[in-house]
Amino acid sequence: MTFTIAIDGPAAAGKGTVAKRVAAHFGFAHLDTGLLYRATGRRMLDGLDPVEAARGLGAADLEANALRTPEVAQAASRVAALPEVRAALVDFQRAFAQRAGGAVLDGRDIGTVICPEAEVKLYVTASDDVRAARRHAELIGKGMDLSLADVLSDLQQRDARDTARASAPLKPAEDAVFLDTSEMSIEEAVAAALRVTAERMAAAG
Ligand code: DC
Repeated sequence: MTFTIAIDGPAAAGKGTVAKRVAAHFGFAHLDTGLLYRATGRRMLDGLDPVEAARGLGAADLEANALRTPEVAQAASRVAALPEVRAALVDFQRAFAQRAGGAVLDGRDIGTVICPEAEVKLYVTASDDVRAARRHAELIGKGMDLSLADVLSDLQQRDARDTARASAPLKPAEDAVFLDTSEMSIEEAVAAALRVTAERMAAAG
């Protein structure tokens, strides 16, 4: 059986948490596609050409913790605007989406470009202030010393770049279900995503 759940949205809206929990609930594999761009951005910061960096990504480059910094996030957003970088990462993502047993992918262009045929498409959003506060708490929790204002400005810059780029910009698929998590707990957001998925599964038989 293949069954693909595509989860898109701006930075720190909660899509990663929702994706992880939905995948665990159904026993599906989960791919955080932002990690591919973060790993490419990291390699660019290390001096590699971004297109070569994307083409040569290996499992060891995807170790998540070192990639969760604002510096790497900005680099990811910059390399993600390059069509050749995106092209280098398409096949891996599509193959992942088609794996037997079901898959959840979260990112910016999953429902629009990577998996336009996905059985479930969610567009997860939250207000800028809520997203900044959540990301700030997460980074502080990891021992990073950042102001809330810096985190907010990082998110807004990335969202502007990710939305304005010509190649696979951040935007909801026409048939995406919106999930605004601004006033939701994690449990509520996950429950809403599970509900939408269960309905589609029942419809797909
Ligand atoms: O989801 P994230 O914050 O880890 O993503 C980091 C950057 O990678 C984001 O600012 C834009 C880019 N990205 C993308 O262009 N397409 C995706 N499917 C996932 C991430």
